[in-house]
Amino acid sequence: MNEALPQSAVVPASDYVIIGGTGDLALRKIFPALLLRYAAGQVTDDFRLFVVCRQVISPEEFKAKLEPHCQPTLSGLDDGAGLLNRLMGLVEFACIDMSKPMSMTGLAESLMAKADAERPVIFYLSIAPSLFSAACQRIHEAGLVLPQSRLVVEKPLGHDRASSQEINDELLSVFREDQIYRIDHYLGKETVQNLMALRFANVIFEALWNNRYIDNIQITVAETVGAGNRASYYDNYGAIRDMLQNHLLQLLCLVAMEPPARFNADQVRNEKKRVLEALRPVRPENVVLGQYQEYAHEVGVPTTTETYVALKVLIDNWRWAGVPFYIRTGKKLKTRASEIVITFKNRPHDIFAKDGITDEINEIPNRLIIRVQPHEGLRLLLTSKEPGPGGMRLFPSELNLSFGETFNERLPEAYERLLMDIARGNQTLFMRLDEVLAAWEFIDPLVDLATKRIPLMYREGSMGPADDLLTSTGRAWFDPKEDA
Ligand code: BG6
Repeated sequence: MNEALPQSAVVPASDYVIIGGTGDLALRKIFPALLLRYAAGQVTDDFRLFVVCRQVISPEEFKAKLEPHCQPTLSGLDDGAGLLNRLMGLVEFACIDMSKPMSMTGLAESLMAKADAERPVIFYLSIAPSLFSAACQRIHEAGLVLPQSRLVVEKPLGHDRASSQEINDELLSVFREDQIYRIDHYLGKETVQNLMALRFANVIFEALWNNRYIDNIQITVAETVGAGNRASYYDNYGAIRDMLQNHLLQLLCLVAMEPPARFNADQVRNEKKRVLEALRPVRPENVVLGQYQEYAHEVGVPTTTETYVALKVLIDNWRWAGVPFYIRTGKKLKTRASEIVITFKNRPHDIFAKDGITDEINEIPNRLIIRVQPHEGLRLLLTSKEPGPGGMRLFPSELNLSFGETFNERLPEAYERLLMDIARGNQTLFMRLDEVLAAWEFIDPLVDLATKRIPLMYREGSMGPADDLLTSTGRAWFDPKEDA
């Protein structure tokens, strides 16, 4: 076992069937994550990894495709090359045309040869949603919907509430809800889970975590990349559906939810859903849409798809009444950073004021900054006394907890955690259907608005065009530090 990797729970030996196993998601995310878990000893030699694809592919060809995506992983491990070879020993190939009835019978024989109630059979649909229904039918007719079978899907799960319901109905006509794992990879990120630890494993924040003490909350997910070679997908989707409907709303839920009674799938998801249901529909003046200047050129045709969205969101419940949540995400921004900034209200009275006038520095509020990525960690901004005699001079200081430095080890990739949770049958970090639909309910009017509005152009390398959303209230965006 590789010492540099975090210790982790035992996972039952499983059969992973990756449908679309030679596609981008499989090569970039799924296999590198499995490799890391193999290095950690969580994926054992008893696992089987089935690559299901349309075209025949030899193990050598597959390995050649996979290797570049594993390079960063391999270079950090003892005997990386040997490890990849050993992982390849677990891989089996099945060439299947999902549109052809009974095309999964060969695969079914291999799976059934080792079938046992303790051995999860995991079908990962790493294919376009238009093929989900056919794939489910193939699985069903091959007799592979066993009590221990699980189905994994990822967005885009529809383009609005109705189409999402339709896709999910197809999945649910074959699998039960408790067999379906809907991935939002943000939930697999270490700091996102740490947000729950911060809130529910400590007492000091909970008393302040409400509209009495919090002035506003900002959630920023900024990317430096553009739509790039995904432009044809992205242009039909836009930032609202690509990022806001899922990742940003999930972050918002974790910040805003009530403490669940237990940290389990049902209770965590019940609380997240309550937040989604309490979101007030956003007024058009509280929505800013942007598009980076080069975007239309990249797409090759004039387009009004938003590559940036910022909103002021209000949550209609006792805890959050009146506290604005400013959330924004965009591509080709100045820095790649995801951050949640909790800005507390200022002190009710300033005892340090001179002649009744508060020094500017004394007006800086306390802030808790949760850095989701990169350089994961927490910063608490405080005010302290400047050392030295001669009066009480205050200066901004900070408590800084860098997870990287504290744990002195690599933080696992989101997919590592999620893939192992699927094998362990733990749905806590996956989205339940009612949550997904509640998120669409909030998003549908925004998508509708976006079809009618021309986005504001923004410069690549800026932080987007939404400053005005806050300035009228005397607030400003708190931009992530580039070198944080
Ligand atoms: C994906 C989006 O879900 O998340 C991409 O489709 C985006 O457009 C990506 O780039 C961001 O993920 P991360 O983990 O790099 O922040």
